[in-house]
Amino acid sequence: MKWLSLTLALVAPSQAALRFGCSTVSIQRLDPLVEPGKIPSAHLHQIVGGNAFNATMGDDIGDRGTCTTCTFSEDFSNYWTAVMFFKHPNGTYKRVPIMQNTALPNGINGGMTIYYTQQDFSSNGNQKITAFKPGFRMTVGTPTATSKYGPGLKFVCLQNKGTRFPELDDFPTKPCAGGIMTVHHFPACWDGKNLDSPDHQSHMYNTVKDAFQNSGPCPASHPIRVPQVAYETLWDTTQFNNMWPSDGSQPFTLSYGDNKGYGTHADYVFGWKGDALQRAMDSSCMFQACENGRPLASQGVQQMNACQVKSTVDEDIDGWLTSLPGM
Ligand SMILES: *[C@@H]1O[C@H](CO)[C@@H](O)[C@H](O)[C@H]1NC(C)=O
Ligand SMILES: *[C@@H]1O[C@H](CO)[C@@H](O)[C@H](O)[C@H]1NC(C)=O
Repeated sequence: MKWLSLTLALVAPSQAALRFGCSTVSIQRLDPLVEPGKIPSAHLHQIVGGNAFNATMGDDIGDRGTCTTCTFSEDFSNYWTAVMFFKHPNGTYKRVPIMQNTALPNGINGGMTIYYTQQDFSSNGNQKITAFKPGFRMTVGTPTATSKYGPGLKFVCLQNKGTRFPELDDFPTKPCAGGIMTVHHFPACWDGKNLDSPDHQSHMYNTVKDAFQNSGPCPASHPIRVPQVAYETLWDTTQFNNMWPSDGSQPFTLSYGDNKGYGTHADYVFGWKGDALQRAMDSSCMFQACENGRPLASQGVQQMNACQVKSTVDEDIDGWLTSLPGM
């Protein structure tokens, strides 16, 4: 945590950053962004955020949501990633549970840590940060990648929940004493016109560097700097550490059958109510100091955990499975 307190000390007063927890809202085979309307979708996702999440969700989830699993109660956005599984030497798969991150209020049910930073942890680069608009969506990474796919997609072998380095491009090759963290940094340069694009990526441009470092300037094609969105997900792999295969091969896989991890990907659908996100980006609050109306409305862990979306896909995802769901 040393690097974090160092950056906090350097923050100038006119700069804002959000870091907050969201409990799991659903774990099911839906992908309203890449496979809208398809029930079930190709592979299993873990989703956090607002309860307007469904297979065909439209552009108005900020208005339709009635609860959210996130700390900030005006944030009905949805955030999701693929699920991690353990493949036992006997050929069956078991879903890896998600655990709460460090530096968040106690009792959060699984979920993810969400960041909206400016240029990096400690600077907005003197640029106006423009909040996303209703209907905005994007993905980062792609499940078909078979080698390192762009910046900002990382794995961390946790010694404990506070471990942040080294950042790896693929799965750790040895058991990790504290679990595995996946990290997804989204691009923060927008073309200023399109809320989405056919590949869900080309309306954005990525100047991200590793580990919340200062990202490069936005190019003329994508001149609008939007918040730098990032996810951290902590997977509790520790219960499987004594079941590693005797040949030493890495036993974890993402839900679409990727045991290297190069296809790690994440999805984002904007759903903040009104101008809440813009107000936060224009303020000077950092992390927990943005709560309790300064400037964002917030809620407690009990309310976060109470918000749920029922699965519309009827299948076992929690036993020892003979195959990955949908594979
Ligand atoms: C998703 O929610 C919207 C709004 O409530 C609804 O119109 C639509 O039918 C839902 N789609 C599915 C597949 O349930
Ligand atoms: C595989 O191993 C797990 C963990 O020991 C066990 O629960 C499961 O029944 C085994 N499955 C088969 C098919 O052997």
